[in-house]
Amino acid sequence: MASDESAALTYASYLALDDVLASQRPRSDEHDELLFIVIHQVYELWFKELLHELDRVRQWLEDDEPHRAQHTLKRILSIVKVMVAQLDILETMTPLEFLTFRERLEAASGFQSDQFRQIEFVLGAKSDKAIRRFPEGSRAHVALTRRYTEPTLWDAFLNYLAREGYAIPASHLASDVTTRAEPSAEIQAVLIELYRRDTKNAELCERLVDLDEGMQEWRYRHVKMVERTIGTKSGTGGSTGAEYLRNTVGANLFPDLWDIRARL
Ligand code: HEM
Repeated sequence: MASDESAALTYASYLALDDVLASQRPRSDEHDELLFIVIHQVYELWFKELLHELDRVRQWLEDDEPHRAQHTLKRILSIVKVMVAQLDILETMTPLEFLTFRERLEAASGFQSDQFRQIEFVLGAKSDKAIRRFPEGSRAHVALTRRYTEPTLWDAFLNYLAREGYAIPASHLASDVTTRAEPSAEIQAVLIELYRRDTKNAELCERLVDLDEGMQEWRYRHVKMVERTIGTKSGTGGSTGAEYLRNTVGANLFPDLWDIRARL
């Protein structure tokens, strides 16, 4: 008899649908909990795909392939737009509907999403504290530790520009990959020149600004959704809730690309 492995491939087996569809496990009998689980799972799948594509962009830059990097960035931006739009669905859940099962979440919170932290790490917002929240040896701890010591997208971009002939100071090329990019007058002078003369790379910069803005758009929409759903209550993850989240909105990932705008 044919084993499962040798059986003809089907839609369901290719997509591991039995596993996927058996992975929603509500902790209550409340109607709205399924939506809450599905939407978070869909986000985690998009986060996985986003990380896959961000790694790809970084590789294209390392390989001096700006057009391909831009192509992949466009795909990433489309995903971010879908991620933002999906919040509309969850906003159809009223505060009272959420309350029907909220206490069953105990201390679980999106705050514990390691893939979201991985995305932050690739985009330059790294923190060793975020790694220590996960047990040593766990999937999350291993992945975050690896990404902590890897160059960020911005590191890869500056190194690419240096190879394109731009005068990126050596201190930035060899800079500590674990620190967040701080505004730099020298880099900004380079970028202003680049914007004036180099359409190809200026386009690439614009896609990075799109990505920065898109991530902030998600944060803004998430905090507004939190405000309308739980108001000033603290989060299940133990933070002050909307107040904590408001402080994460508006921090630019690539500050140099924003700071030059008034001087272009
Ligand atoms: C009713 C819906 C939601 C509510 C009320 C809510 C509430 C919160 C709150 C209060 C926090 C702050 C941490 C805490 O104390 O728990 C938080 C963080 C977070 N949530 Fe949500 N959330 C909701 C939906 C979502 C969805 C659909 C996602 C998608 C993955 C998500 C992802 C996150 C992430 C990634 C953080 C960490 C943000 C950061 O630390 O910068 N949340 N959420």
